[in-house]
Amino acid sequence: MEIFIDTANIDEIKKYSKFGIIDGVTTNPALIAKEGKNFKDVLVEICDIVDGPISAEVVSTDTENMIREGRLINQLHKNIVVKLPSIPEGFEALNVLSSDGIKTNFTVVYTSNQALLAAKLGATYVSPFVGRLDVNSTSGSDLISEIVCMYENYNFDTKVLAASMRNSIYVKDAALAGAHVATIPPEILDQMMNSELSNIALEGFLDEWKKLPKEKRNYFE
Ligand code: G3P
Repeated sequence: MEIFIDTANIDEIKKYSKFGIIDGVTTNPALIAKEGKNFKDVLVEICDIVDGPISAEVVSTDTENMIREGRLINQLHKNIVVKLPSIPEGFEALNVLSSDGIKTNFTVVYTSNQALLAAKLGATYVSPFVGRLDVNSTSGSDLISEIVCMYENYNFDTKVLAASMRNSIYVKDAALAGAHVATIPPEILDQMMNSELSNIALEGFLDEWKKLPKEKRNYFE
């Protein structure tokens, strides 16, 4: 499974890129606004850090302006993926931008039928919002499984990008359901790397190691 980081924060993107685990970045208007910087500057800076797909979202809700914004966003960098919302106007814009050959991420997806239509229209990624679904008493991982199954049935190239993660269990569930990508906020990447049991085990090993006379453990000095 590919791992994208779900943030527009430059320091966090730099921090987690160093681990070598980040394949791409997703942003949305709220994440960009949180940084308080110029839209274009933030995206270009992110593209300079991560050599992978970088999602940036249109902010209009009418088809014509979604297409206009999508084309402008696409010009920012070769790795840009244009995010379009799953509303009727978004489907129409997706059809046009796909014909342009522009890479797209069809977002705020809550049903497998939305994902089916997006794949038919050539979306590069679809983003089911699993965490937000769960709070509405509908299983987010069931939705991922359904979309993965549909895409396999018809050999669609569209990738399922699990979004709206709430904790590290969501990532595991997305992987088990066959998501091609998960976009993960920084704090959940931390959760994925850490286990208190790992710390306890390591502490025990190092306590024992220190009991070995110093001259017998001087290999590293
Ligand atoms: O790209 C943002 C998407 O993952 C939504 O996340 O936490 O706002 O539901 P959230």
